Amino acid sequence: MVKYLHGYDSREQQRLIDQAGFLAPLIFPSVDFFGCKKLLEIGSGVGAQTAVLLGLFPDLQITSVDFSETQLAKAAENLKGFSDRVTLVCQDAEKLQLEERFDAVFICWALEHITDPQTVMKRVREHLLPGAKIHITEVFNSTFYYQPESPALAYYYRVYNEQQIGFGGNPDVGSQLGNLLTHAGFRDIKISHGGFHLDQSQAEELGRFIAFWKILMKSGAPGLLESGAISQFEIDAMESDLDRILADENAVFFYQFVHANATV
Ligand SMILES: C[S@@+](CC[C@H](N)C(=O)[O-])C[C@H]1O[C@@H](n2cnc3c(N)ncnc32)[C@H](O)[C@@H]1O
Repeated sequence: MVKYLHGYDSREQQRLIDQAGFLAPLIFPSVDFFGCKKLLEIGSGVGAQTAVLLGLFPDLQITSVDFSETQLAKAAENLKGFSDRVTLVCQDAEKLQLEERFDAVFICWALEHITDPQTVMKRVREHLLPGAKIHITEVFNSTFYYQPESPALAYYYRVYNEQQIGFGGNPDVGSQLGNLLTHAGFRDIKISHGGFHLDQSQAEELGRFIAFWKILMKSGAPGLLESGAISQFEIDAMESDLDRILADENAVFFYQFVHANATV
């Protein structure tokens, strides 16, 4: 059994591509790599965010590190038009060891899955040139709030987060970004928040984010079913609760992730 919350099947790989497009307007306004030449990306998955970075910053050469051969094979396919600007490296970020030194780092939705994010930050720091910039965006799952009360969603969310913790991850790692960067020796650390606070005043947006959330929640379903942590009935009930939130006249749907920008 793969000890990774989302797994590596083709549906999950496509989800990462869709997610990168959907969330890009919430992430990239706080990313500034203008003037940078060599970027290190940690936990790059199928290259979904790499493609966004390549488009936004045409001067960047990117080295993308992931410890999954399956993800990197898909990344090679997704980024084939950019083979002159991207190097894909299969390594565990906790043991990062590269010859090159970088003036930029991008990490998104990866530290949450890593057992020792502090070691990763120290390793990353060792690979940077003076003045290098880092951007991190990570989850802060305890911020999820909704109305009306939705017991099946609450149960599924608890089990989903427990599964991630059981695999050595941290669904609230976003809350620790300032500490992780400080202890790794970064400076000029700026923490900000992104996410959504939706209700019936933005019904269309509420529908879009609830549809997104269903897909995100279900990305954990194969692993949760396999480990026996959840039943198909409970997955369906979670989806029905999300439909009920969308239909409720007093619906609230709120979540905050965390951005950190810093330099060395
Ligand atoms: C949720 S995906 C995010 C991928 C990409 N950053 C994105 O936003 O589309 C997390 C990725 O981190 C990778 N990963 C998890 N732990 C890792 C580690 N210790 N070293 C390298 N990659 C890791 C996984 O294989 C997975 O591809």
